[in-house]
Amino acid sequence: MRGLFHQALPFTAVWRVAIIVKWSDTCSIRIALQGGSMINACVHIGSRGERCKRNHDHGRIMITVKPAPLSLGDGMSVSSAWTLNPDVLHLNHGSFGAVPARIQDFQNHLRAEMDVDPVRWFTTLAPRVVQARGALAGFLGTDPACTAVVPNVTAGASAVFHSVRPPRGPDIVVTDHGYGAVTMGAERAATRWGGRLITAEVPINATFAEAHDIVMSSCTATTGLIVVDQITSATARRMPVIEIAASARERGIRTLVDGAHAPGLHPKPLEDLDCDYWIGAFHKWPCAPRGAAVLIARRDVAQELFPVIDSWGTPLAFPERFDVQGTLDFTSYLAAPASIQFVEDEWGWDRVRSYMSDLADYAARVIAEAFSIHTGEDHRVDVAAPVNAMRLVRLPAGLATTHAQADALRLPVRKECNTAAALTSFRGIGYLRLSAHVYGTTQDYDEAAERLVPRLCEWALTSVPP
Ligand SMILES: Cc1ncc(COP(=O)(O)O)c(C=O)c1O
Repeated sequence: MRGLFHQALPFTAVWRVAIIVKWSDTCSIRIALQGGSMINACVHIGSRGERCKRNHDHGRIMITVKPAPLSLGDGMSVSSAWTLNPDVLHLNHGSFGAVPARIQDFQNHLRAEMDVDPVRWFTTLAPRVVQARGALAGFLGTDPACTAVVPNVTAGASAVFHSVRPPRGPDIVVTDHGYGAVTMGAERAATRWGGRLITAEVPINATFAEAHDIVMSSCTATTGLIVVDQITSATARRMPVIEIAASARERGIRTLVDGAHAPGLHPKPLEDLDCDYWIGAFHKWPCAPRGAAVLIARRDVAQELFPVIDSWGTPLAFPERFDVQGTLDFTSYLAAPASIQFVEDEWGWDRVRSYMSDLADYAARVIAEAFSIHTGEDHRVDVAAPVNAMRLVRLPAGLATTHAQADALRLPVRKECNTAAALTSFRGIGYLRLSAHVYGTTQDYDEAAERLVPRLCEWALTSVPP
């Protein structure tokens, strides 16, 4: 039955519809579309047994598109533009990104230029960084004069924590969805300022209104700063940053928005967002070389900010003082605009976002169903405000119940299942975080359902190999 469900149906005409009633009383409808895509609609109509009742209780209708793979302009497969190991299933773009071969070559070319004549390279570097910064700001739809380069998102957060002492008070509010390294930096900053860290506990399926109210009601008379993710890491959901920043401004509280995942996923991540500080990464969804991120600041607070590394640029104004950070390899910044342009020229960012979203939906459905077949449980996750390219699927009970356990699973998964996957943990529940980029295909997730899911179910019952 499972084979039937996963197998592509032999449709040739557009709009032919097939209805398959599976033994688990899931009614699955597939509609073939022109161009090879398929729409999958799964209606859980359970009436028999515990498993069906659960599905029925959830009462969800899931409609997913089976997206046809994109190709390169020369007709080659998309994955041929990357250097990812073809024997491995790459299901975790979101953590560390993946750099197209052409951009790796471009960065290597820049490095060669640097090493041919280092003195010339470093003495003529500043205008090239300014140009790259302008291109990165343009991609985000923001002003280059408010945009500083930082080596990574955490360095951007550290620059805020080390440069600023919010006038309203020393307490910092974070959420329990915050990225660990940034939250730890916030805690140290609050302690240094003589305040404390307050963690707003936001349920994974909280609506925007609920999440906003929980964060704002966690603020006290001495809260000076709110740190909140635009797109969360462990839970792959959006937070109401526009609403939180607006309410915080009314109360004189500053906001730092962690937009690490937003570049590339959101066409204009700073639109309508009246926060004080914003940080975003280019090595994730824009596929730039690692070491390229930005810190964006409101004009009225920007001049308080200094990079974590002191340099000869210190007397300069923001953002120029971030353009010089001692003797570092700046080629990632210089190559980042080329990766953005590569995606734009090949497919266009809107098309890529739409493909990633369809693929992520497909992935979540196929993987959740595969888990259900083994456990008889519902593994779908409602995060209330999903992001276009990432989805969560609940792991079987007992797996990845802490952040450390989730991280520790990555290597056995890579070794035993030849799969690069992100495993996350939130409030004692483990999740598989699927993140799909343009080089991924539905076949990757069909294979993961066969290869990865049974192993994870086995490990949940026995023990994970070292
Ligand atoms: C939400 C969020 N914030 C911050 C970071 C840290 O990024 P980096 O390690 O590049 O500093 C990540 C990394 O995945 C993230 O997902």
